[in-house]
Amino acid sequence: MEKKWWQKSVVYQIYPRSFQDSNGDGIGDIAGITSRLPYIRELGVDTVWLSPIYQSPNDDNGYDISDYQAIMADFGTMEDFDEMLAKAHELGLKIVMDLVVNHTSDEHRWFVESRKSKDNPYRDYYIWREPKNGAEPSNWGSCFGGSAWQLDEATGMYFLHLFSKKQPDLNWDNPAVRDEVFEMMDWWLQKGIDGFRMDVISLISKEPDFPDGEAEAGGYASFQIAANGPHEHEYLQEMNRRVLSKYDLLTVGECAGVTLEEAKSYANLDGSELSMVFQFEHMEADFDPELGRYAAQHKDIPKLKEILSRWEVELDGIAWNSLYWNNHDQPRIVSRYGDDSDEWRELSAKMLGTCLHMMQGTPYVFQGEELGMTNFPWTSLEQMNDIESLGNYRQLHDRGYYTEEEGIAMLRKRSRDNARTPMQWDDSPQAGFTAGTPWLPVNPNYTRVNAKEQMAREDSVFHYYQKLIALRKAMDVIVYGHYRLLEPEHEALFVYTRTWEEDELLVICNFTDKAVPYTLPEEFRGSSVLIGNYPQVPENLQTVRPYEAVVFQRKTSGLC
Ligand code: NOJ
Repeated sequence: MEKKWWQKSVVYQIYPRSFQDSNGDGIGDIAGITSRLPYIRELGVDTVWLSPIYQSPNDDNGYDISDYQAIMADFGTMEDFDEMLAKAHELGLKIVMDLVVNHTSDEHRWFVESRKSKDNPYRDYYIWREPKNGAEPSNWGSCFGGSAWQLDEATGMYFLHLFSKKQPDLNWDNPAVRDEVFEMMDWWLQKGIDGFRMDVISLISKEPDFPDGEAEAGGYASFQIAANGPHEHEYLQEMNRRVLSKYDLLTVGECAGVTLEEAKSYANLDGSELSMVFQFEHMEADFDPELGRYAAQHKDIPKLKEILSRWEVELDGIAWNSLYWNNHDQPRIVSRYGDDSDEWRELSAKMLGTCLHMMQGTPYVFQGEELGMTNFPWTSLEQMNDIESLGNYRQLHDRGYYTEEEGIAMLRKRSRDNARTPMQWDDSPQAGFTAGTPWLPVNPNYTRVNAKEQMAREDSVFHYYQKLIALRKAMDVIVYGHYRLLEPEHEALFVYTRTWEEDELLVICNFTDKAVPYTLPEEFRGSSVLIGNYPQVPENLQTVRPYEAVVFQRKTSGLC
């Protein structure tokens, strides 16, 4: 296997709107990011992924782009960007940009033209269909609630939008669209960026006849019906040939609806498509069987283990995994699979970090994860901003699935806004994020949970993440080792081994607040501890303490 730089990388994701404001308008910006690059470097990661910073009317906070080659005014200027890129490179940090090309904003000049008339030269840049029996062309639903089809009065036709009405889907079957996208990508690569995170790239190729799908609780077929369409791999291979293969990049496809079999094409080690994919199966392990994400959580540790382990084993040597617990679309992991009470927050955050960072694949750390940042205690819908959470809440509320009060309690656990509250830098007003009024409220726990406090304390989550990242840089067994799950049925413990050449690791993580008896496998008795989240590990451990994580190492040749 040819080794690639991004196999050894750890990526830090920035959600620019919430990272650091430099001018007091309450919105994070590029100059703010530049000022914090040394902090990111200190954590030890080598790559930064920026959520979109392009010009956008912000219907979906920048995932609705109106000009791919301009910077959103709220975030600064192209000069600010160039300065940030140069500073990042000086510090040895690579910059990966978000690429959002399944759709544009309806304010993009292509769509402004496209909707003007049926014979406009840009008409075919988007997906237009005649009404079917006087209504929508199919029962496809938008990810944000409601139909995925919007009637446009000007021409009496519907356009497809798998996300908001202000995010019309591009027509990738039109070669002119592919030319434009590839040219734009090349323009950014010529500027010296180091890769792309590709937004819902698994949705770009649609079945041209848009067959109806099975309706979900909201009344429509899931937007994921569009996943892995007929020309998906052909278009990505074309992108690879025409653009990606000319550079040495990290590319990661956000692949809603991706199966393991599909991932073997998207992320094949032969390099014909992308470096890796974000799969969603493990994020869906706690979904409600009927209502999906926007409902009560169903935590099932054996199921979570089964999914993550299947991806580890099946992709080994064939394709490359990405590893994540958090991003700007997910509630905070410590509030989800850990425990965000004062008693367990730090221990469980470190346990979850260990569990993920010891696996095979490229780990992603979402801003604030390295501090053990938690969900926000939302009390009203007015405090929230996210179009997806509010849209899905309304749809299910209107169909009688929950009252407003129940809905708010559900969003406290499930909303994407939990990830998007401002980064907690210190204990000064607004957590040092802004001198003004932040666009989303700062979590009231910032006086206790903040970067300044964590950096000053040796046993903090920050320093623990620093160690996890440094270990990956130092040890091939963490990067390339083969994975094996032990104790698959255990309800509390997640136990696995990694093996590479003469090295073997045993990773033990307790996902509960109860002590659990455990017998160390014979071959690990007397072996040394590589890392753990309790100060001491008793020799020949027999009990795994609440939220404990411990990694043992040994030499298989028996030398250790
Ligand atoms: C996935 C992005 O991560 C999410 O934030 C966005 O709303 C949708 N794609 C639409 O672009």
